[in-house]
Amino acid sequence: MVLNSLSLFRALLFLSLATSAFSMRPYKEGLTPYFYDYVCPQALPAIKRVVEAAVQQERRMGASLLRLHFHDCLVNGCDGSILLDPTPTIDSEKLAFPNNNSARGFEVIDQIKAEVDRACGRPVVSCADILAITARDSVVALGGPSWKVQLGRRDSTTASRTTANSDIPAPNMDLPALVSNFERQGLKVKDLVALSGAHTIGFAQCFTFRNRIFNDSNIDQALAKNLQSYCPRTGNDANLASLDPTPARFDTLYYNNLLTQKGLLHSDQALSTGESALELVKSYSYNYEAFWKDFAKSMIRMGNIKPLIGNQGQIRSNCRRVN
Ligand code: HEM
Ligand SMILES: *[C@@H]1O[C@H](CO)[C@@H](O)[C@H](O)[C@H]1NC(C)=O
Ligand SMILES: *[C@@H]1O[C@H](CO)[C@@H](O)[C@H](O)[C@H]1NC(C)=O
Repeated sequence: MVLNSLSLFRALLFLSLATSAFSMRPYKEGLTPYFYDYVCPQALPAIKRVVEAAVQQERRMGASLLRLHFHDCLVNGCDGSILLDPTPTIDSEKLAFPNNNSARGFEVIDQIKAEVDRACGRPVVSCADILAITARDSVVALGGPSWKVQLGRRDSTTASRTTANSDIPAPNMDLPALVSNFERQGLKVKDLVALSGAHTIGFAQCFTFRNRIFNDSNIDQALAKNLQSYCPRTGNDANLASLDPTPARFDTLYYNNLLTQKGLLHSDQALSTGESALELVKSYSYNYEAFWKDFAKSMIRMGNIKPLIGNQGQIRSNCRRVN
């Protein structure tokens, strides 16, 4: 009798656990900052710990991780597609021109995924959400603003190198091309100017700014001369120059630099060539609070690009391949 009621208790317990597992189905309404609050409250702290350790070990990693989220979102939405390795059926975005020998931080994402799955006991956090949270934590780790990350994205089962090549903006673009590139993603001039402020951290390789330092006229002559010796007409393609004078600090110097024609990329300096963009550049240059507020807002807007939700896609157990 006692035994029987015990096993009945066990059966009920099992049933209620099973039901709560079923009620953990994907959120259908869109993204929410509270998505993992009940499913796995340990998830966000676990991610933050790994990001902080990685950035402490190498400051540049914060920049590289922020860029991964951008390159993920611009290619068929924020769906973790950039993380898929090439296979006979996966047209890996890692091999697209903007990413090949340029996108980095994939090992840190693997480490975060392992940690967060261990903390949660099973794979409940999508790779797309990991990229979004990691971008925010990276910005915070380098002294920038914080924001509530919208969550509940699911992971793609496909990737597209072709779309990565066509949709990720190129450093030789002029302002109209940048504006229309962002417009196609539902982003406005303000998002373009605020999000380009991400170039307040990190580095670029010589081949991405060579044309600018030899051919552009809207460049500070001393800066051009300096860079030309470091990045000659041929060779040294992978030499790194910082995108602003303080590449490990999320400050406003990126914008100050643009006002004195010291932008590193042609696309950076292009923001000073149109009236409405230039007004924003000026205001961000002397008002870090305005920059921070708009950057955070635009990161949320970028993070909302075409997420997979509900029963779409999957939660990958390894970010590098589909389940
Ligand atoms: C507006 C158009 C943009 C263009 C044309 C552009 C282009 C580039 C290029 C060419 C590099 C250097 C890559 C290399 O040399 O390997 C770079 C670096 C970087 N980009 Fe952008 N970018 C743009 C917008 C953004 C946005 C919106 C973000 C993030 C919100 C971002 C984040 C970064 C970061 C953090 C780095 C440094 C990465 C590192 O040091 O590893 N970029 N970008
Ligand atoms: C990517 O980079 C590797 C190594 O430099 C190079 O061999 C390969 O051809 C590149 N792939 C593409 C698709 O450009
Ligand atoms: C500068 O522009 C000329 C003419 O368009 C081009 O031939 C040359 O390759 C450019 N130089 C660099 C270093 O990109």
